[in-house]
Amino acid sequence: MKKPILLAHRGFSGNYPENSPIAFQMAVEKTAADGFESDVHITKDGKLIIFHDATLERTSNGTGYIKDHTYEELLALDIGAWKSPEFAGQHIWTFDELLDFCDQTHMLLNMELKNYEVFYEGLEQRVIDAICAHKMQDRVFVSSFNHISMQNFKNLCPDIKTGLLYDKPYLEIGEYIKRSNADNMHPRYMLLQYQPELVDLYHSRGMGVNTWTVNDEENMRDMIARGVDCIISNYPDLLCKVADEMCD
Ligand code: G3P
Ligand code: CA
Repeated sequence: MKKPILLAHRGFSGNYPENSPIAFQMAVEKTAADGFESDVHITKDGKLIIFHDATLERTSNGTGYIKDHTYEELLALDIGAWKSPEFAGQHIWTFDELLDFCDQTHMLLNMELKNYEVFYEGLEQRVIDAICAHKMQDRVFVSSFNHISMQNFKNLCPDIKTGLLYDKPYLEIGEYIKRSNADNMHPRYMLLQYQPELVDLYHSRGMGVNTWTVNDEENMRDMIARGVDCIISNYPDLLCKVADEMCD
């Protein structure tokens, strides 16, 4: 069976604080994942930073929106202690720091542009500039729930692969994707079980199928058997073990 690309979601976020340096480091040290999925925002003073939510409360000791804080303010926050006291002292990485780390460790990166709640002006071009400055167009692919943003991204930079994230069934998805210039589809995994014909449909249009967030063995096995191209998991250790057992 074909082995999909295996990505650590927000780093090794099942066991470590999501999107923190230790979560990325442990995905490399403790698993055989091919790369990471992560999330990018823009600070008040225009820096690209790695974080999941648009607001700080859930996974840091800060408050309010990222867009209302400078990078210096955000760098002072603790993003580890909420998960467990043993992870106190973890800090936010910039997108450049994550790109450097992927470069050093030869990891792939699926970068999600978090621009469907806060519409960051110019996010697409800034992400393109950072990826190109690191010469990592072949190693980084992007995705977003904001499909207009992905359309713009592809028009700005045809060299970097784009993906349409979605988490609900669409009417006439075949017609919808005809109007898109995206390279990949990024469905939540249940949608491929609800409409099993989708993997073949996307492949017949030349699109990759990159699914998320698959955290249990039964669904990992099911997604591999359906022939998806990439699986994203909070538990990359388990995902790699299952893929090793099933794939050539
Ligand atoms: O990219 C897959 C997945 O990360 C999308 O949802 O909320 O986990 O960023 P979320
Ligand atoms: Ca994400």
